[in-house]
Amino acid sequence: KQPRVCVVGSINMDLTVTTQVMPQQGETVLGDDFATYPGGKGANQAVAAARLGAEVHIIGALGEDVFGKTLYDHLKQESVLLDGIKKIADTPTGVASIILSENDNRIIVAPGANVQVTPELVEAKRDIIKSSNIVLLQLEIPIKSVVKTVEIANAYGVPVIVNPAPYQQLPVSVVNGATFLTPNEIEAAAMTKVAAMDLQQKLIVTKGSAGVAFYRNGKEELVPAFTVNAKDTTGAGDTFNGALAVALANGRELADAVLFANGAAALSVTKIGAQAGMPSMTEVEDFLKTQE
Ligand code: RIB
Ligand code: NA
Repeated sequence: KQPRVCVVGSINMDLTVTTQVMPQQGETVLGDDFATYPGGKGANQAVAAARLGAEVHIIGALGEDVFGKTLYDHLKQESVLLDGIKKIADTPTGVASIILSENDNRIIVAPGANVQVTPELVEAKRDIIKSSNIVLLQLEIPIKSVVKTVEIANAYGVPVIVNPAPYQQLPVSVVNGATFLTPNEIEAAAMTKVAAMDLQQKLIVTKGSAGVAFYRNGKEELVPAFTVNAKDTTGAGDTFNGALAVALANGRELADAVLFANGAAALSVTKIGAQAGMPSMTEVEDFLKTQE
């Protein structure tokens, strides 16, 4: 049966410049190419889950500008259900300014309309959360809305994955209400300062080329990363989260779900653009077979 995933999160247009050299402070360098790619952590996670066969709703906000229209049409094309979208007049759609070099990427997000993903909007879309098998959250929307979403999901017993990126201090209610938290290593280090019950057993820590760590009975288990020819790691974490949600909603056991999500994330980095390399279910399964 098709799992139902609800993403509450950001939608951005990524403005990506590729370059051989990163500019230093006060410096201008000549780069290579410029292109726009659909992005935003929320939209990326939604598209990742939809490509893997889930029925996906996104609760989010877009400006009534060119990027807003393009991103709306794009999400529709990707079969993401858009009844949770609010269009905001006189506000720019979120953008991410991305500098991409061979072994580095640097991103600044101007949230724009994403700030309008308010607790009131989430409340108005309550039924979408209620009828989902799993909810996915990141931190490019107001933290009050993250709190609200966790509260609603908890009220209906719907599991919640919180991807604490870009990192900010999480309210204790979010940590307590989350089923899983998926920080990277830097975010995880900041998080262990949060005094919450059962924190460790909720953590799934993505460590880049070192793999992914999770905890069973207080013991760390490490799922190794796959080696691929990486062209752009932008959105790899989002692919991981979207795939993890689908795998868990499909009833996979945690270790297996992490392995699956790792495979999906590995495939995603082989193309430039956050969503460009996101695989289908068959592509992940075939890839995992070749890696056995
Ligand atoms: O996680 C990658 C995403 O972060 C990019 O698509 C960019 O929009 C920023 O939100
Ligand atoms: Na990619």
